[in-house]
Amino acid sequence: MKACKMKRLVALLSLVFLYINTASAQLAIIPQPLHVTAAKGAFVLKGQGVIGVDQESEAVGRYLQRYLLDTYALVFKVNVYQHIPLHTAIKLISNKSSAEGAYTLSVNSGGITIGGNGAGVFYGVQSLLQLMPQGRGMLFRVPACTVEDQPRFNWRGLSLDVSRHFFTVAEVEKYIDVMAHYKLNVFHWHLTDDEGWRIQIDKYPKLTEVGSKISYWAKQGKFRKLDNLVDDGRDGFYTKADIREVIKYAKDRYITILPEIEMPGHSEAAIFAYPELGCQDSTGAKNRVRMYDPSEHTFQFLEDVLSEVIELFPNDYIHIGGDEAEMDDWLHSPTAVALMKKEHLKNVREIQSYFIKRIEKFLLSKNKKLVGWDEILEGGLAESATVMSWRGEEGGLAAARMHHPVVMTPLPYMYFDAPQAKVATEPIGWNPPVYWQMVYQYEPVSASLAANETSYILGAQGNIWTEKVPNLQHLEYMVYPRALAVAELTWTAKENKNIDRFEQSMYGQYNFFKLWNLNARLPNVQGMEDLVTNKDNIGIVLKHPLKDARIQYTLDGTRPDTKMASKPFPLVIQAAVKDSLLISADVSLQGTEQHIFQTALVKQVTVNPSTVEAAGLKPGLNLTEEKAMLGNPAKGIKAVSAGTYLNGYLKISTEGDYRISTDFEISPAVDLDKQVIISQNKNKYVAPQSALLHLKIGYYQLRGYYPVNDKNKGQTLLVIKNAEGKLLDTAVSLFH
Ligand code: ACM
Repeated sequence: MKACKMKRLVALLSLVFLYINTASAQLAIIPQPLHVTAAKGAFVLKGQGVIGVDQESEAVGRYLQRYLLDTYALVFKVNVYQHIPLHTAIKLISNKSSAEGAYTLSVNSGGITIGGNGAGVFYGVQSLLQLMPQGRGMLFRVPACTVEDQPRFNWRGLSLDVSRHFFTVAEVEKYIDVMAHYKLNVFHWHLTDDEGWRIQIDKYPKLTEVGSKISYWAKQGKFRKLDNLVDDGRDGFYTKADIREVIKYAKDRYITILPEIEMPGHSEAAIFAYPELGCQDSTGAKNRVRMYDPSEHTFQFLEDVLSEVIELFPNDYIHIGGDEAEMDDWLHSPTAVALMKKEHLKNVREIQSYFIKRIEKFLLSKNKKLVGWDEILEGGLAESATVMSWRGEEGGLAAARMHHPVVMTPLPYMYFDAPQAKVATEPIGWNPPVYWQMVYQYEPVSASLAANETSYILGAQGNIWTEKVPNLQHLEYMVYPRALAVAELTWTAKENKNIDRFEQSMYGQYNFFKLWNLNARLPNVQGMEDLVTNKDNIGIVLKHPLKDARIQYTLDGTRPDTKMASKPFPLVIQAAVKDSLLISADVSLQGTEQHIFQTALVKQVTVNPSTVEAAGLKPGLNLTEEKAMLGNPAKGIKAVSAGTYLNGYLKISTEGDYRISTDFEISPAVDLDKQVIISQNKNKYVAPQSALLHLKIGYYQLRGYYPVNDKNKGQTLLVIKNAEGKLLDTAVSLFH
């Protein structure tokens, strides 16, 4: 082939690649559909738009009409047809035969067609919304494509604790709206807890008259100090009319509500309203009664409450809590002690089991299924119970092995009250950080389940507890983008999951977040990482995945004053290093209020080549396995791998700058010439780190260690790049 012909071909090929890249970037749908095929061209709306619907799809058509009006100020007409005319701009065609939630979406220059059953048409519309313009006032242009899709799990949940802080109907509806955009379909509404009773119950008016005003009573000194909350709390409750409105709102978005009425613990607000329900400490010394007394009076109360709840909520399931019950309180309760004797219950766990089984029987008599947290396994699981596994997966796995339905919501992955980055730089929260990558990597069906047990896993759910979440803005900050990862791990086929693709698609969603005024936590700055260097001057390149992101920073560790002028990305920080430097950055997004805070420590070291004789060295590092002895002497002891020591030399053949880092999710310890260049046990998403070293020609002593860790499987231990960013071939640059 002639050179110029070759050049033309290369140019043509790169055009094709460019086209494919843009096409797939435009087709960034979360959760990733089963099949997406990009096509040439687009549908461009000219003039007035019509949404053609049939009788079954009319409500979804009106939903879409409202969305287009509210979001883009676009006026569409909804026309109901027996047979929707071919030329209609958007056609929503009901198709009863498809699988639950399945849909097809096709876009070409002539129009947009969505087909599916009821939920399917709605999900097809949600996928379409993500193909629409990411801002107002743009050309209404939807890229041509075909999508065939269906969900992996039927339980794709998100919870909200409205007890610790109350959230209004409008706030709950916004929460539900965003869930719907990502095809989440179970809203778990945690309506009662110690710090507030939030649902009107006609037969027991004090539940709301007193129990929904805990914050007020605490300020009066009549209730204990609310020192587990971040502030004084937020009072309020939902009337039955409110509840009915929210149920309808959710139903219109194909979301089922799972109401939770906590028992036998976490019931302080109800007991404050009706003290006779509480388990009185026989010593009378307690100032906090959270446990129901297992009396006939309590059971009558709970049945009355549940009857009114059941009357409101049309769904199959009622959540009765069951977590963290302070069962030992029952040892001081004459009622509980008498009950143990009468029912031959051996311990408090068996009282709990008796309690839950009585409630189960009542729910079954009303055609409802009981859901409880995994503690309900203790003392004997109620026969028909569905288990929500939160203290890890063990409870859920045990329940699945007993052929009980299970929803996986395990700590730490599914707990969004944890911070999303280094604790010191985030708002206060429980537990160590849970970053979105960690949520994304969670797999609800454990490999340890047998084939006939896997179908008991109904799906998964993200949970948020609101002790430290005082308002909607903060709630959105905690829940998003992590809930997008839940959407994808519950909807998307396992083989279609891809964290890099998800990451890019997720960044695109921030344009929609802006349109919806959703305060999702901003992505971290790229390049903001702890650095070890032997240089006196460094240039750090900072990038951000969002176009409108801005940064302010200081180099002395003080928090930047947000009134300082902010700078766009990419940004190069040139700085002199003397011993150390603490970069503190404040990141915001133009047009929004949110600021996130990040820090990075730059530490100076001195490294010199070794005096080792090159002639005696062999290629590769010397890796020594560390063994640990497991077992017990009577039954036999087994040596298992515990970690790996590395020992050797890094050969530098050209003097220059080198960047050394690790791809391990949990970092190894690595020393170069006895200086720590990578610190052990840091998470690459939470505390990224690398070394930037100017190295002369020579052999540098390299030592390190890493313990066995499943999270690091398949990842590269050492990534060494030269100043041009070219990877050093470790096969020819490492010796021992
Ligand atoms: C729970 O987080 N206590 C269910």
